[in-house]
Amino acid sequence: MACPCDWPEPVIRVQSLSESGKPLIPDRYIKPPPDRPSVDSHPPDINIPLIDLAGLKNDDPAVREATLKEISVACREWGFFQVINHGLMPELIDGTREIWREFFHDSMEMKQKYANSPKTYEGYGSRLGLQKGAILDWSDYYFLHYLPSSLKDHNKWPERPSSLREVVEEYSKEIVRLGRDLLEVFSLNLGLRDDYLHNRFGGDDIGACLRVNFYPKCPQPDLTLGLSSHSDPGGITFLLPDENVSGLQVRRDEQWITVKPARHAIIVNIGDQLQVLSNAVYKSVEHRVIVNQNKERVSLAYFYNPKSDLLIHPAPTLVTPETPALYPSMTFDEYRLFLRTRGPQGKSQVESLKSEE
Ligand code: OGA
Ligand code: NI
Repeated sequence: MACPCDWPEPVIRVQSLSESGKPLIPDRYIKPPPDRPSVDSHPPDINIPLIDLAGLKNDDPAVREATLKEISVACREWGFFQVINHGLMPELIDGTREIWREFFHDSMEMKQKYANSPKTYEGYGSRLGLQKGAILDWSDYYFLHYLPSSLKDHNKWPERPSSLREVVEEYSKEIVRLGRDLLEVFSLNLGLRDDYLHNRFGGDDIGACLRVNFYPKCPQPDLTLGLSSHSDPGGITFLLPDENVSGLQVRRDEQWITVKPARHAIIVNIGDQLQVLSNAVYKSVEHRVIVNQNKERVSLAYFYNPKSDLLIHPAPTLVTPETPALYPSMTFDEYRLFLRTRGPQGKSQVESLKSEE
């Protein structure tokens, strides 16, 4: 296998392309027609479920029950929902997003100090995957590790803006707390012990990493995507969307639903590992990002993952003669390797595991 220490071709920052003001995007970013954003849009009133997490703490047991039920339906039928009253302060949410926006608007020279390599992907990047000549997405990103602590290295986090490290610490702590709370809810909703999923994820040894996505303005948004269709390989993803610009689309049957974020909401989606643990009761759903001619977009995707060397398999109580285990046992590390060696994904990535046994 080729050494994955460097990119197969020179890295081009999408932000630089955008700022060059050229009216046409390079061929490398032009998607084949079936993958382009479709013109026929879905009815504008459809949205992913919006759930008020305050309901989980309501004094009235009927309200608590109804909130659990809403989350259950969202996990089974959508794989995606947005939450409000999640415990993260509005100032923290806006502050974190704006600090990253500032980072991306800093000089290219500053950002290049953090240029990443495909070995760990940590730092400032502009592509995922190593396939030479691949069609690329219209985005740059910054990727960093928070947990396990052994992978956290503040020197790999931007030193500017000066409060970035402190703010990202605070934001990360809150996301990890939210992740733990939701794993408890998911466990109960699946009829498991309340600490079942937390323990399967490795207790306090979970993984948590952040990808901040920057989608520059694009002169030909109909021909490309900010992020190609994919499912998230990990446990749960917490997405903080841009407050001004929509762009995230979620697959629902044959349609792409454009998510309309509520103010200060966090979007939650089920990753492949939870689809496996729930034996496909919960769905890891495909999603993608479209770009915009007049507006840039910033989003923060926080990946809350199982400890990477634990075996993940369907919960035994969810395996019955009628619902046999759909997936083999595999660690998250092995799964990521499996995805990488498979090359570009087909549909839902975890589906292809079914035929592996
Ligand atoms: C991701 C992702 C969506 C977005 O980073 O995995 O799906 O809106 N991001 O940026
Ligand atoms: Ni994603």
